[in-house]
Amino acid sequence: MAMTCVHSLRIPTTKLSPLLSESPSSSSSVKPRSISYTAKMQGNEIREETTAETGGAGGKKKVFVAGATGSTGKRIVDQLLAKGYAVKAGVRDLEKGKASLPRDYSDLEIVKADVTDGAEKLAEVIGIDTDAVVCATGFRPGFDLFAPWKVDNFGTVNLVEACRKRGVNRFVLISSILVNGAAMGQLFNPAYIFLNVFGLTLIAKLQAEQHIRKSGINYTIVRPGGLRNDPPSGNIVMEPEDTLYEGSISRDQVAEVAVEALIRPEASYKVVEIVARADAPKRSFEDLFGSIEQR
Ligand SMILES: NC(=O)c1ccc[n+]([C@@H]2O[C@H](COP(=O)([O-])OP(=O)(O)OC[C@H]3O[C@@H](n4cnc5c(N)ncnc54)[C@H](OP(=O)(O)O)[C@@H]3O)[C@@H](O)[C@H]2O)c1
Repeated sequence: MAMTCVHSLRIPTTKLSPLLSESPSSSSSVKPRSISYTAKMQGNEIREETTAETGGAGGKKKVFVAGATGSTGKRIVDQLLAKGYAVKAGVRDLEKGKASLPRDYSDLEIVKADVTDGAEKLAEVIGIDTDAVVCATGFRPGFDLFAPWKVDNFGTVNLVEACRKRGVNRFVLISSILVNGAAMGQLFNPAYIFLNVFGLTLIAKLQAEQHIRKSGINYTIVRPGGLRNDPPSGNIVMEPEDTLYEGSISRDQVAEVAVEALIRPEASYKVVEIVARADAPKRSFEDLFGSIEQR
């Protein structure tokens, strides 16, 4: 039998979540925010659930998700909505967005956003009411050899600059393990070679990461291993940057890490690499993010 206990905490914004505490564009940023922790007993295991939902004025925190029609982006949108956030889903094609994203949420707004359109346009789309941005874009393979550079580098840089224009101070990027493969001695790793042969994809991502890290914005860069669509089949392993060079993870877990990064203060200004392993112990997100040092 599962037991559930919920604690509602009211706390000063500066103590808790980077998303909740650092949203200068939000009219309610100086007011206390509330967050609820739910602990469920399942057998001997305590499952931790955190829901961050309301601003001081009662409004929900709003997250802009770029690449919301993507296999990971969609999951991030779903999980944010389930956690009680309002979501602005950035899509290139509105019809595709409407068809692939949930219909029955009043807290979901689908907006047209191509990250190659430039920071000015993106800032307009992000608007004045966004508290955080999650970037889950990735170039779609095609004939344009420069697509990885346009999307995974310039596009992400545009998004960061749009955040600066709008005073959005929380950014979560879905990047990839091995982006810094050359420096890790993985120059001849087949995955490193393969992904760079197609438009220097990993190098494009690494440079975008560097832009975020210099931007002053509170970031969490999530570098997953190979992405799988199937449900989680192991526990999350989280390591510091430039550590993992193999392994895979369910997109559901990547989305969970991205959403938890918005909630957990331990995730601020960090780069984390993640895969899933059946033999890894189950750890809380507080512990996972807390074990990674800021650099
Ligand atoms: N595949 C892997 O094994 C792997 C491993 C590690 C990391 N990653 C990275 O993880 C991230 C998510 O991967 P995924 O496979 O879940 O993504 P995906 O399904 O390929 O989705 C990519 C998303 O990016 C959007 N997009 C492409 N160009 C865009 C543009 N110019 N402006 C705005 N949006 C644009 C796509 O929109 P449309 O739907 O309109 O095309 C789509 O929503 C990517 O950055 C990927 O490189 C992937």
